Amino acid sequence: MTVFFKETTDGTLATIGLDVNVRKDRPLLLFHPACDRNYASSWQLLLDIGAEFIHICNDIGPAYPEMFRYESGYQYFTRFGDMNRYEGQVYHNSQLEVNHRQIHIEGDARQTLDTLPLVDIYYDDYPYALFHEGRMDVKSYLEKISENVVDGGLLIFDLKNFNHSNEVENWSHKLKQESLGGKVEYLGRAEWLNLTDIALHKSSTAFVFKIHNEMDKSVQFSEWVKGVIPEYSCRNWLFSNILSKGRQKFSHIHSISPDHYHEMWRNHIEFGSPMWSDYPAVETSVLDYVEYGKSIKRGDQTYLDDSIKKYEKKPGIRTVKANIFDHLHWLWLNNYTVILRDKHEKKARRICPMLGQKLISVSSNQNPNSKIRWSGDKSNAFEAIESKLETNDCSRVASIIYGNGELPTKTQSSKFDELLIFHIDDEIKV
Ligand SMILES: C[S@@+](CC[C@H](N)C(=O)[O-])C[C@H]1O[C@@H](n2cnc3c(N)ncnc32)[C@H](O)[C@@H]1O
Repeated sequence: MTVFFKETTDGTLATIGLDVNVRKDRPLLLFHPACDRNYASSWQLLLDIGAEFIHICNDIGPAYPEMFRYESGYQYFTRFGDMNRYEGQVYHNSQLEVNHRQIHIEGDARQTLDTLPLVDIYYDDYPYALFHEGRMDVKSYLEKISENVVDGGLLIFDLKNFNHSNEVENWSHKLKQESLGGKVEYLGRAEWLNLTDIALHKSSTAFVFKIHNEMDKSVQFSEWVKGVIPEYSCRNWLFSNILSKGRQKFSHIHSISPDHYHEMWRNHIEFGSPMWSDYPAVETSVLDYVEYGKSIKRGDQTYLDDSIKKYEKKPGIRTVKANIFDHLHWLWLNNYTVILRDKHEKKARRICPMLGQKLISVSSNQNPNSKIRWSGDKSNAFEAIESKLETNDCSRVASIIYGNGELPTKTQSSKFDELLIFHIDDEIKV
């Protein structure tokens, strides 16, 4: 529960909850730069708001939930995948009913901010991240924030690092003074309890500012989210297809499983018993995933299937101008087998671990990695792909453009019904 002490002309009014403008067409976006492990504070705020959200955590050296798996609170997160757009990892809390994702982006806050669409909430506890050493100033800080938040959105300035310093020098105090009458309006003070019970501190206090922003940003949500949370660019009915598939695992290949956790604990019994009796991170069930996939707010999306091209003279061959790494969930839901070069296969597996055995590396004993020429006139990639199909049951296959960009021809002996080729450049020779 967030208690909001709102400044009004009649004095301070205590209310429950923040006044947040929740959009109908997309989830709430909260950006928390340089958060380290304090993302539990902004996470709790999102839980209190209660709307579908994407929690965007950023740090140069990110603090992934599994790094704190022995601390209460953090162990509830299940790693879902990596992102194509960023260095980073994607999480989900299987106990939470509201649709959400928590993403962790590794990198400089300034550069990360430039790549984001306008966010609804800019959550800050470390404003220094936006400045080169010794060059902080309140005006340019507020300018920068207001350019990156939607009109009517909020700046939540966490006082965690500012409660005890000298009032005059205190950055939060300066913000409040500077904001009067500007693009950033001081609304009041908010307090909430962090039920994600972390060792560091248990309640948060923040100044709340409203942003008045007339400007738009070139990065649009529907484009951005494709390379971040690919479920948003899949049509909702597609998710029903996976119900019929057996043996689906939804926790990430690198996530810590309950078995792994217990093994670690047995090996380090000297640390005493853990704070919880069972490892609570559960694998997301197929049913939960389907429900989640169907019900997410997609807004104004362009779908991959609308841009797939067929060729009259090349039956069975299709192409699409798109980045394959942004559409791995779509391929998985459509029962494609994805065949890629070794290094790409590894990346794809981190992004969409659900592909499982439907993701294949093109190299084999007959075609070792060193002998496969993916590009150029002398490419043997098509032969290598075809030889993989002989040992796997695949009617629909997807890969990326190879050779000199010329489309192959499906022959009588080809073991696939459809080959879908992804390309990013315009060049396709029919
Ligand atoms: C003092 S810690 C504060 C962590 C957290 N915000 C808190 O208040 O508990 C500073 C954090 O900022 C991160 N950091 C510093 N400069 C940054 C930048 N330009 N972009 C992203 N993260 C940055 C560091 O990696 C570190 O984790």
